Amino acid sequence: MSTDSSDQVLEYPFRAPNAVEPPEEWAKLRKGCPVAHVRLPSGDKAVLVTRYDDVRHVLSDPRFTRNLSQEGAARITANEGGSAFESEAAAEISAGEQHEKWRRFISRWFTVKRISAMQQSIEAMANQLIDEMVAKGPPADLVSELAFPLPVWVIAEILGISVDERDKLATWSNAMLTLTQFTQAEVDKAQAEFTEYLMGHIAKKRAQPGDDLLSDLIRAADQGEQISEKVLMLTAQGVLVAGHETTSNMIAKMVAMLLSDRKRWERLLAEPSLVRTAVEEALRFDANAGFGLPRFITEDIELSGTKVPRGTTIICNMASANRDEKAFERADDMVLNRAPNPHLAFGAGGHSCVGQALARTELQTVLSVLLRRLPSLDLAVASQDLPRREGLLVGGIERLLVRW
Ligand code: HEM
Repeated sequence: MSTDSSDQVLEYPFRAPNAVEPPEEWAKLRKGCPVAHVRLPSGDKAVLVTRYDDVRHVLSDPRFTRNLSQEGAARITANEGGSAFESEAAAEISAGEQHEKWRRFISRWFTVKRISAMQQSIEAMANQLIDEMVAKGPPADLVSELAFPLPVWVIAEILGISVDERDKLATWSNAMLTLTQFTQAEVDKAQAEFTEYLMGHIAKKRAQPGDDLLSDLIRAADQGEQISEKVLMLTAQGVLVAGHETTSNMIAKMVAMLLSDRKRWERLLAEPSLVRTAVEEALRFDANAGFGLPRFITEDIELSGTKVPRGTTIICNMASANRDEKAFERADDMVLNRAPNPHLAFGAGGHSCVGQALARTELQTVLSVLLRRLPSLDLAVASQDLPRREGLLVGGIERLLVRW
């Protein structure tokens, strides 16, 4: 496929050679066609931006919404919107002012201070899961043993769901996310059970508030803030949808990236103080980040010298932006001590990831515990053969077989 003509319409998303390397189109587009016309799986047309400056510019502009239910916006697939936060049900917290208010509440909870206080408990969870994996012996699938359960346990703690009940949350989340492995009836059943459970859970928290996000929102509602039952439900669902699969995938991809060239792993064994910058670099270097973020452009703008008219849907490819040679020296090398590292893996501007301090803490903790507990960790399959996770929006690895 030629990618040098700006008149051409390319099929998007592109196919990557494997689960760890970027599609070759990214570099070509960054160089020769930074504002490209693409056709989405729905058949609708959009514009794709791949350069760091353009992606950052579009994401940071508060005028542009990710709400694709507006007239004239492109659909990602024929039957759904673009992200978990675009479903009709989520419109209440997704739209303009309402969203800003909701976001302010949520951000108050996800502060760096509060998240650092969770670090010990995250470490205990990682140790418990690794104990169980070690007891079964190698080889093990790091996704099902560690990367999948850990973030959902963390979310259970945030929502005040007890240890006895957190595996139920994992089961529902799994059914709601991995659409390929479950029938529509099973997915609907999980969704219905989860909704019913949440209604009961919220009622319990009303009666007996604790030190968790939902109780905090209930307290704020009691003090006169307008927080409806529906908003409480959507918050719980939203945190699960936004914080589970993304973090699970990133744990697995980070470990795969570090083990696919074992010199990286060995460097971290020798210098564990690099864990913090190594996590940022894994977020930047991730070539399998998924679709990118859509934005609906309500005013004309100029990107890399090209005029983009209002009414256009722009897909911001953050993973390509993160490989832009103009923004990062040695962009195609994984530099474990890279600093500063202003990558766009969490988005940018007013909608950027509210859970990023938590995601960072989870990634840093898992990595430190793995380095300490399993220094001999290695891939049990070649990195080129790692099975990609089927799914359109968030890229991941289906299974990560490791030995130690
Ligand atoms: C490595 C893991 C993660 C990645 C790569 C990631 C990435 C992102 C990105 C790119 C966005 C912006 C979406 C947009 O602009 O449309 C976002 C939003 C969000 N993320 Fe994360 N995220 C991660 C983990 C988490 C976690 C652990 C939580 C919470 C438990 C979380 C909660 C949220 C929420 C609530 C939003 C919506 C913010 C809003 O509507 O303003 N994320 N995330």
